[in-house]
Amino acid sequence: MAGEASEKIRQLILQMTIEEKASLCSGQDVWRTQDVARLGIPYIMVSDGPHGLRTQKEKHNFIFEPAETISAVCFPTGSCLACSFDRDLIRRVGEVLGDECRAEGVSVLLGPAVNSKRSPLCGRNFEYYSEDPFLTAQIAVGFIQGVQSRGVGTSVKHFAVNNQESRRMTTSANVDERTLREIYLAGFEGAVKQGKPWTVMCSYNRINGVYSSENRRLLTDILREEWGFDGLVMSDWGAVNDRVKGLEAGLDLEMPGSGNVNNSKIVHAVKEGKISEDTLNQAAERVLKLVYKALETPEGKDSDFDRKAHSRIARETARECMVLLKNENHILPLKRSGKIAFIGEFAEKPRYQGGGSSHVNSSYVTSALEAVKGVSDVTYSRGYDTSREAPDTTLIANAVKAAKASETAVIFAGLPDSYESESWDRKHMHLPACQNELIWAVSKAQPNTVVVLHNGSPVEMPWANSVKGILEAYLGGQETGGAVVDLLFGDANPCGKLAESFPLKLSDNPSYLNFPGDGDECNYREGLFTGYRYYDKKEMPVLFPFGHGLSYTEFSYENMQLGADEITDNDILNVTVTVKNTGKVFGKEILQLYVCDRQTNITRPLKELKGFEKVSLNPGESKTVTFILNKRSFAYYNPEIKDWVVNSGTFDILVGASSRDIRLRAQVRIHSSVQLKPHFTLNSTVSDILKYESGKKAIQTLLDFVNIQIEGETVEEKLSRTESMFGEFPLRTVIEFTRGVISEELVIKLIDMLNH
Ligand code: BGC
Repeated sequence: MAGEASEKIRQLILQMTIEEKASLCSGQDVWRTQDVARLGIPYIMVSDGPHGLRTQKEKHNFIFEPAETISAVCFPTGSCLACSFDRDLIRRVGEVLGDECRAEGVSVLLGPAVNSKRSPLCGRNFEYYSEDPFLTAQIAVGFIQGVQSRGVGTSVKHFAVNNQESRRMTTSANVDERTLREIYLAGFEGAVKQGKPWTVMCSYNRINGVYSSENRRLLTDILREEWGFDGLVMSDWGAVNDRVKGLEAGLDLEMPGSGNVNNSKIVHAVKEGKISEDTLNQAAERVLKLVYKALETPEGKDSDFDRKAHSRIARETARECMVLLKNENHILPLKRSGKIAFIGEFAEKPRYQGGGSSHVNSSYVTSALEAVKGVSDVTYSRGYDTSREAPDTTLIANAVKAAKASETAVIFAGLPDSYESESWDRKHMHLPACQNELIWAVSKAQPNTVVVLHNGSPVEMPWANSVKGILEAYLGGQETGGAVVDLLFGDANPCGKLAESFPLKLSDNPSYLNFPGDGDECNYREGLFTGYRYYDKKEMPVLFPFGHGLSYTEFSYENMQLGADEITDNDILNVTVTVKNTGKVFGKEILQLYVCDRQTNITRPLKELKGFEKVSLNPGESKTVTFILNKRSFAYYNPEIKDWVVNSGTFDILVGASSRDIRLRAQVRIHSSVQLKPHFTLNSTVSDILKYESGKKAIQTLLDFVNIQIEGETVEEKLSRTESMFGEFPLRTVIEFTRGVISEELVIKLIDMLNH
């Protein structure tokens, strides 16, 4: 913001009354910030978000009917977008959304939603990107930069640890510090530091007992002071518990506003000296900065909202994201001339987005049945009724007949609207019984069966071995049908990979025993081990692993090279790999790089994603890909020193086509520049002390006192014998066991020496 604008804001603050400043700290309605007519301060509009624009032209009320919002283009939802692993593609989606916002006079788009996926049951998983924070952050940065390149702000939400809908406004997500940093905050951290969003939206829930909306540690200490965020923090809609505490914690703007209810509490608190006027000034200043920054963007034109062009982008995007999970005997792509049956109501009326605040009033939706016209002659059989759970024997019998009369059956299945939405979680991971029965019956009658899935989050697939092909279309936006047809018939080659693991069954998921918690307490007992971090460490089979996705071509990986074999934790490490398209058609491959700390003496996942690149290749073509790793790629969060640390040792660098398909590996030795200073007490064990040279000397001194010497034994051997016998003993026991020959004073003196 230019100096002139800052000065203007400063002047405005000086002229405003306490009441006027407090009025700025909450919205005037669902979408608008408060204006102050006396001083000519305008309002700006914010609107949902994230995968399409949900705003209103005249009314600004709580909306329950999608038709009350403007008609807009619906893009694939977050869980689908992330499977593209494509920063540029997401950036383009962001740019288009930014253009739509400008055309509609919206200054801040309420997204991206970057919460980590803990349980497949979370009702809003379809809006969220991934179970992996690195991937989440990278996708979010693309989105933020895309939208903001158009002079429209974003709001990274829901900060933080909002991983369930059950009791989302009262539950406390109880998480240990390492897990918080490494899993649940890391996605936000990357998005904030690299994406530089204009705003952040705090979540509804509590974290370790404290509401996010009044969590100073979260909103100020971590977000602003550690990560350098300099924008505005707004509340989720209705997330304010105690407005005054919130203001002190760093919550600038309450949305959608509470009339004058909470503003007057702020006014009283300032007048009674309970909070300083400076605290209020700071929040008011941040609101004004946002308003005047938004006003720097020239007014949009109607032509910015080019529906046709945007719909084309929606289709291209969807087909870059959908994931080919299974393709036995190359059943796909389908031959246009073959006899094909499309089966299942979703072929006619696809599910393409989720419920709740992200629900876009799409201008139209293309079904696969419409899109296939002119591509191939298909027959259609409804197969099930989306409004019913129980199998319909007549619909199934008709579908079986249609399948038998064809060479290939393509079943369109997935989750109905009522299963996945903001405000509630799923209770199980099954498809409706009517769909499972249909798939069993059709696959029995027709060996060439392919299933296309429309769902925002993983489902169990008991029939997975009985069908030849599975295409995970996710919730692909309004052009989903077109994208599915492009992929089924090979007009586009599938190139998405899973941004989340698909467990075999719900009870395999690490959060299973603690989701959604008891009453208002949800304990994240699985800790760091979410998603593939858990399945890998437990050596468990999964239905489809994180990072999995097939193509109609094949790729070979070769010639992995590291820039160095040994580095310090402050060095950058370049890793190069050559990837070749060894098949017959053009395709894109997503190379994934995982890091594994081999010698760690602390609990760590087996491997963690630290790099990925998506590469386009013609048949026979090779390209060399470079990954750049830095300290953070190897580090874990150490709560004692409150920082990220790399332990000295050997790390494996793994490059593969999925988390379970590692093609190349190499090793690097890292020398850490951080010497973790241990703190010894009387309860430190002999083993812990012997890890350090100074500790060895201290133990030797003690041993000299008791002088139990075996003939010919070297000092090293003596120490090793001591460790095997007494390694687990705390130091205090030497005083008692030697009956005071080694005195307490001596031990305390040694401990002091060790600590200094
Ligand atoms: C949701 C937010 C959304 C807001 C405004 C809330 O219920 O949690 O994601 O941006 O409503 O519609």
